[in-house]
Amino acid sequence: MKFGGTSVATLPRWQNIQELVSSRRAEGVRVLVVVSALSGMTDALKHLCAETEAGKRIEAAAGIVERHHALLAQMDLPLPAALERRLADLCDLAASGPGSLGELAWQALVQAHGELLSSALGAAFLTAGGLRTEWLDARECLTAAPLPNQNERTRLLSAMVDSRPDPVLAATLAARGDVFITQGFIAREPGQGRTVLLGRGGSDTSASYFGALLKAARVEIWTDVAGMFTANPRQVAGARLLQRLDYEEAQEIASTGAKVLHPRCLSPLREPRVPLLIKDTNRPELEGTLIGPQVGEQVVSVKAISARKNITLISMESVGMWQQVGFLSDVFDQFKRHGLSVDLIGSAETNVTVSLDPTENLLDSDALAALATDLSKVCRVKVIAPCAAVTLVGRGMRSMLHNLSSVLAEFDQLRVHLISQSSNNLNLTFVVDEGVVDSLLPRLHELLISAGAMRTDDAAMFGPRWDVLYGSADTSTRGPVWWQGPARARLLALAAEQTPRYVYHLPTVREQARRLKRLSAVDRLHYAVKANTHPAIIGALAEEGFGFECVSPGEVRAVSGLVDETVPLLFTPNFAPREDYAWALQTRVTLTLDALYPMEHWGELFRGREIALRLDLGRGLGHHEKVRTGGSGSKFGLPVAQLDSFLKLADAHGVTVRGLHAHLGSGILDPGHWGEVYGQLASLAERIGSVSYLDIGGGLGVPAHPDEMALDIDALDAVLRQVKAVYPQYQLWMEPGRYLVADSGVLLAKVTQQKGKGALRYLGVDTGMNSLIRPMLYDAWHEIVNLSREGEVAETLYQVVGPICETGDVLGQDRLLPSAEEGDVILIAQTGAYGKVMASPYNLRDSGEEVVLD
Ligand code: LLP
Repeated sequence: MKFGGTSVATLPRWQNIQELVSSRRAEGVRVLVVVSALSGMTDALKHLCAETEAGKRIEAAAGIVERHHALLAQMDLPLPAALERRLADLCDLAASGPGSLGELAWQALVQAHGELLSSALGAAFLTAGGLRTEWLDARECLTAAPLPNQNERTRLLSAMVDSRPDPVLAATLAARGDVFITQGFIAREPGQGRTVLLGRGGSDTSASYFGALLKAARVEIWTDVAGMFTANPRQVAGARLLQRLDYEEAQEIASTGAKVLHPRCLSPLREPRVPLLIKDTNRPELEGTLIGPQVGEQVVSVKAISARKNITLISMESVGMWQQVGFLSDVFDQFKRHGLSVDLIGSAETNVTVSLDPTENLLDSDALAALATDLSKVCRVKVIAPCAAVTLVGRGMRSMLHNLSSVLAEFDQLRVHLISQSSNNLNLTFVVDEGVVDSLLPRLHELLISAGAMRTDDAAMFGPRWDVLYGSADTSTRGPVWWQGPARARLLALAAEQTPRYVYHLPTVREQARRLKRLSAVDRLHYAVKANTHPAIIGALAEEGFGFECVSPGEVRAVSGLVDETVPLLFTPNFAPREDYAWALQTRVTLTLDALYPMEHWGELFRGREIALRLDLGRGLGHHEKVRTGGSGSKFGLPVAQLDSFLKLADAHGVTVRGLHAHLGSGILDPGHWGEVYGQLASLAERIGSVSYLDIGGGLGVPAHPDEMALDIDALDAVLRQVKAVYPQYQLWMEPGRYLVADSGVLLAKVTQQKGKGALRYLGVDTGMNSLIRPMLYDAWHEIVNLSREGEVAETLYQVVGPICETGDVLGQDRLLPSAEEGDVILIAQTGAYGKVMASPYNLRDSGEEVVLD
């Protein structure tokens, strides 16, 4: 069990250690505690070493002595003889200075006192508390291994230890006692050699060395966080705890940015297969991260995403011949000469680009300039900085590429300097400009989950979100869904009559409508009927006071037939024929134009009328590339650059632009988005003058995975109110679709057949992409449940497929479900939005009739 500096700095922390060690003893195991120096002590000792005057050094030592006396007093313990001796040794070393030891050996010995002191203190405390604790000198056990290319500094201050299992040592210790305490960070040269330090990641590495030497049952690293997360929680509050990792994945995550564990501490444990557990000292009940040998078949998943900043890229263009022999050797030779370690490499026939990682290199502008000068003798050099390396980590990365399409689409609008795929198939790295990375990371993390590339539905692998564990996040906004519970019997009965069947739950529609009505900044809410045109849903939302947004004459007619004359109707066609506009102008709808063309070619149609104008604000957002409706890659909206031309044409035809509209995409969970759109539209409206309302679209997302965070409607309101306070003159409209209906609908199907093929097990159901095309079209993830087997253990990994003649007819990949049988009722959740409305008669199979529950 290893405890770091803050964990050993105060009495309550030591009481905590006492409890934890006792609980391990109660399990019947022997414990070796590895401690760091009290927090701040290593720095204090380094300062002591940097003092040239003996007086100053003695003063510094006195401060350190004082700190240990103070903690002893807190513990109400007399000064133990062993600690007294070590404190005296430190004072002697301070007084004498390096002397005959030599500067570096003296420094190592002085700094080693941080751990020598804390462990002596700990031995006294634990023993006094009733746990007989043996103090063990780490230097008796850990011997530095001589390495090639070592100099005196690395030999003394950055040593490595050969830690092959040593059964003799294990037996000797077992004979001596049950609880030991020793020092992190220190070791000894072979023989009766000098004290050496382990360098970066020191104490964790010591714990691993001991774990390997003793072939421990496990190594526990007790720290201030529950383990490794899917991303740095400071950048991604929704990062998930990684509960299980194999050594290689953990190593990769540690090397590409996670600070909780130094990458060095994993390799000693790999061969003896000693597991390592990371635990939170303050929250011992949390499962933590268990790192061990790869176990069994696992769902293939991206495990983490990280970003390393301050990366420098060196691009080298061969000036000589194409495919010049020896070019690589020439350029890499320069890196070696300058002592710089290369991280990523990309190569072309005439160009090689490499990255330099600041954690591995002492990079300053002089070092870079010197390198560039030498390199320029053999090639044309370009230094690109500052960059950031964004890395996705997961075993079997190459087999996940197909799941990454929507994630990779995010790089579309960025400059990607280098892509590198590790040869061990564990990572995929993108080097981008450093400035974009802070906003990019949370988006990528969200997309990885929604694209099903990070399989957070696997509860054994992925634990709770960081903001749920440590922050103020409230997941209660996502209560139980209607089909869990009493409704189940009803659904089973409906399925027994007939499948496939869509079932809609009207109370859920109303509940969502009421949530949106809490948006006090919004003056008018419309339902985007394209999401679900069932009359009962349109009727329920009309009763809730919603207007309607339609995109075709068909939709306008359907709604008009159901609601009364006073209900607002918006008509937002795109690339529609002339007659649609002519027709709409004969009705009471509010018409939105989104191009110059209608005004240029059919201007007379609009003479004297009021219209709204849909703008393309130059960017799109959403759960998948195909639902992003902004930027030049999307066909929607008038580019802002054409606004003046539009206004001139409007003016010429006596047309008044009464509203501005923007809808950037679908499935957005960040409330800040609508604030940005609102602000942009408002400032454009000020230029136009005639505008009285702003429609900021729909796109409000609903989380697909059970533990994803719902869109925070109060936070959205707060964002909107801020903008409204600046632009009170404009009415604010919205037109969500999905948010109102997605969770209200389920698709019921029955199991038809099963098939094993290679490692895969296919579960066939009686409908597929003909009923629900979203998984095929957008890789959308819909929860799938075997309703007939509630409460049974989910033990089989299924590919859930339909009966349609298409390989893409897959409703869900890699779903862990109870073993199913023919006739079982399968529920596909969250199909109230863009389900039945996008169904097709393909293969002339029934896509499912619709049933409404109220
Ligand atoms: N307003 C306009 C102008 C739209 O184009 C859309 C959706 C909405 C509002 C409503 O967006 P919502 O709130 O539902 O996200 N079939 C895709 C979604 C396509 C959305 C098209 N436009 C899917 O299944 O995810």
